Amino acid sequence: MLTELIRTDFEPDTREAVSRAVSALQAGDIVALPTETVYGLCADALDPVAVEKLFEAKGRPHFDPLIVHLPHKSSIHEVTEVPEELKKLVTQLIETFWPGPLTILLPKKPIIPDIVTAGLPTVGVRMCDHPVFHRVIKGFGNPIAAPSANRFGSLSPTSSPAVLSQLEGRIPMIIDGGACARGLESTIVRLHAAEPKNRIEIVRPGPITAEDLKKFGKVVFAERNEDVENSSPDAPGMLANHYAPRTPLRLLSSPEDFHPEEGKRYALVSYRGQEKDGYLQLHEWDEVSILSPGSGRVAEAGIRLFHVLWQLDQLGVDEIIAEPVPDRAVGKAILEKLRKAAIK
Ligand code: TXA
Ligand code: MG
Repeated sequence: MLTELIRTDFEPDTREAVSRAVSALQAGDIVALPTETVYGLCADALDPVAVEKLFEAKGRPHFDPLIVHLPHKSSIHEVTEVPEELKKLVTQLIETFWPGPLTILLPKKPIIPDIVTAGLPTVGVRMCDHPVFHRVIKGFGNPIAAPSANRFGSLSPTSSPAVLSQLEGRIPMIIDGGACARGLESTIVRLHAAEPKNRIEIVRPGPITAEDLKKFGKVVFAERNEDVENSSPDAPGMLANHYAPRTPLRLLSSPEDFHPEEGKRYALVSYRGQEKDGYLQLHEWDEVSILSPGSGRVAEAGIRLFHVLWQLDQLGVDEIIAEPVPDRAVGKAILEKLRKAAIK
């Protein structure tokens, strides 16, 4: 299969690209589109035959459910049954964070085919905040099922070249919408009605942080259990061997953890690129990539993480060594990706 890359640099091109993507979706085809988080591989969420093509192109097991992207806030009532006791909370969350990188798990309506949710009674829904995606979904009208546009288990792509390097020849079309502004997949939450405060359970940390959510309820993090993660379809997206570059990756907890082997080539993923953190001077690194060269904050590091790992993966070093980042705000999501990338 030939994979066509369609650009959206200027308006007449964008209009053409949007119309090509809408036609492809209407014809039951799949297309890679930019979102504000990572590139998504998109299909009509109401068409099981189209959705099957996503699983095939990604090599994704059918027990791993997909996120459904909605054209309008109100579409939530077409695809989910919002429990009475959660209505107020759901309204607050979508008014505050949509369009944006917050996915909410809710009981699904029968209109969503079982293949989308891997047979689960719930569906993850969000509204994407990217101008090209927005125009495509408005033109198409139906909800769009879209996993990240990578081969199953590999790095999520935050640019069209990163999509191509994994899916060229496996999908018909990529719409190039530039680099993804958020760079990490959406935060996924499950909601629990409780007194005196509702509980917001973060099942996948992401750009919307616990700090962002805490004004709406008591925020808790879902328990991690790697046995369950590897076997259970109810472990939300949480297979342990996710997000891995091809090059082996190791996450250090302190500089003392690094013991280089003779003759091996190492690249360093540095958090701030500062000597005082103790990692830069540990070794004559083949390459050093800095996650947050600007302010030294985790928000910047989150935006750059997948891009940096993708670039380092092209170098052919023997191992990528990652410094830890602070375990707070978006840092939680970064650490989760690095931990999972490190598991072999
Ligand atoms: O930012 C994002 O969320 C991106 C963009 C493209 O929107 N999408 C994305 O999709 O990250 P994906 O398929 O790579 O990851 C979605 C995760 C999956 O690992 C899946 O297990 C989990 O969400 N998930 C989806 N539906 C679920 C459900 N009903 N219950 C529990 N987990 C669910
Ligand atoms: Mg993914």
